[in-house]
Amino acid sequence: MDPNHTISASATSGSDFGGSVFDHVVQAPEDPILGVTVAYNKDPSPVKLNLGVGAYRTEEGKPLVLNVVRRAEQLLVNDRSRVKEYLPIVGLAEFNKLSAKLMFGADSPAIQVKRVTTVQCLSGTGSLRVGAEFLARHHHQRTIYIPQPTWGNHGKIFTLAGLSVKTYRYYDPATRGLNFQGLLEDLSLAPSGAIVLLHACAHNPTGVDPTLQQWEQIRQLIRLKGLLPFFDSAYQGFASGSLDADAQSVRMFVADGGECLAAQSYAKNMGLYGERVGALSIVCKTADVASRVESQVKLVIRPMFSNPPIHGASIVAIILKNRDMYNEWTVELKAMADRIISMRQQLFDALRARGTPGDWNHILKQIGMFTFTGLNTAQVAFMTKEYHVYMTSDGRISMAGLSSKTVPHLADAIHAAVTRAI
Ligand SMILES: Cc1ncc(COP(=O)(O)O)c(C=O)c1O
Repeated sequence: MDPNHTISASATSGSDFGGSVFDHVVQAPEDPILGVTVAYNKDPSPVKLNLGVGAYRTEEGKPLVLNVVRRAEQLLVNDRSRVKEYLPIVGLAEFNKLSAKLMFGADSPAIQVKRVTTVQCLSGTGSLRVGAEFLARHHHQRTIYIPQPTWGNHGKIFTLAGLSVKTYRYYDPATRGLNFQGLLEDLSLAPSGAIVLLHACAHNPTGVDPTLQQWEQIRQLIRLKGLLPFFDSAYQGFASGSLDADAQSVRMFVADGGECLAAQSYAKNMGLYGERVGALSIVCKTADVASRVESQVKLVIRPMFSNPPIHGASIVAIILKNRDMYNEWTVELKAMADRIISMRQQLFDALRARGTPGDWNHILKQIGMFTFTGLNTAQVAFMTKEYHVYMTSDGRISMAGLSSKTVPHLADAIHAAVTRAI
């Protein structure tokens, strides 16, 4: 062999080629919400408290797997006829049917006339993304209006899907309530056909929801202007403890015969966070349109994740179709919602007992998992540094992460932050 052609092993080893082809890649910032947990995990303090991430915790501060979910999983494990074959592109048919009923009502005429298409997606995030990509390809108006503020992932999901993101006024820091006038003004200036992202209930991060009368005015404006509502329903049942009450906003928009989209998540209300179970429904004018829409949604899903996972959707389907298990679920769900509501009262009482300056009524008034405290970035940083209390820098705290034992510590931290005038 010609020695000039001998390629030595060391000359071809990857480490000899100098720098990495990824040398130019810069360190990305932590996700603002998930980064809170990263910082919390690094803190050795025994009194540390994580109120950043929106996941339910028990009074003992532990994650909760619902009893009814354990039962459903047991049934799945014991059923030897179950296999691990791929699901269809649109997911588990039974899950889709039951999810649509949960969202739109068991007797929904829209479902009966088949003008709703529902596809299983990867929890709420995946459902939003699939819906957004479908809209970017097929809706004539590619602008989406999202509330100011909103869940941190919304803007990124819609931008990456190819939509142009604008905001509408939502929260009024002065009243710590809804800026209803601003909302109506901004939506009335939106171009016809624009998409409007609405939180179905328990608005994240503010905990501020429109009243039913305000929803009705929003509905009239949206229909008058020919806007397209896209509901994000991540907390059905978590806000009030009632699955039907928390779906009222969405159902009003379906009852008028118009079109809308809804992204559903089972992360919070069934505690299936890591199972990634959700559904996207597109409510159309007619069954014929719905069927064509579904055929196009399949073309979005197939190259994205091919087909969704089977386990979580099977748990949900078992619970939703069995009356006894469904009832057990509603009781467990109500208990979670009630514990959160009681944390609101306890925190409010603790601040009042300390004479903490300010009006804290919004803690009682706001709805769902989060309280938008009104604390500023400097106050949040102070509470983290001095009291080891972790939360997002906008002052949002997860009420679900609090317990009777930790309320006094949080109240002490808030009191100190507010009275030290930082
Ligand atoms: C408003 C809102 N939408 C969607 C989601 C999506 O959650 P997941 O993808 O875990 O279902 C969340 C989760 O925090 C949320 O708060």
